[in-house]
Amino acid sequence: MSERTLVLVKPDGVSRGLVGEVISRIERKGLKLAALELRTVQRALAEQHYAEHDGKSFFADLLDFITSGQVVAAVVEGPRAIAAFRQLAGGTDPVEKATPGTLRGDFGLETQFNLVHGSDSVESAEREIKLWFPNL
Ligand code: CMP
Repeated sequence: MSERTLVLVKPDGVSRGLVGEVISRIERKGLKLAALELRTVQRALAEQHYAEHDGKSFFADLLDFITSGQVVAAVVEGPRAIAAFRQLAGGTDPVEKATPGTLRGDFGLETQFNLVHGSDSVESAEREIKLWFPNL
């Protein structure tokens, strides 16, 4: 059964020229792009997207970072797309958790600048896709 997930290439990934690398790995895995857009993130969208982290020590830095430059937002679909993209991304901490061969493991050094986001559950994916692509 096909599933959809929201993928972001965060400002560090865009500014480092890693958009093609991320899209390429998504496509090579066999996942499909249902939507793809380069955009600047408004603060209100960032706050809604990261609402579950409100109150955490890194929340303000997270909002500053995600609104600091352009991001690429994509809806990615395929069988078990949510888990499949999280496997491609690797763990949140690019050094301690992400293994080599994953996007974060190959290209990341710091948890705050971990290149990509992928929805973590079916419920999150539905919520996030509605937020980022209300017309889809
Ligand atoms: P993401 O998968 O987009 O979801 C929440 C983000 O918060 C996470 O990736 C990291 O970029 C960031 N994050 C999580 N934990 C920390 C932390 N301890 N310090 C800084 N940023 C964090």
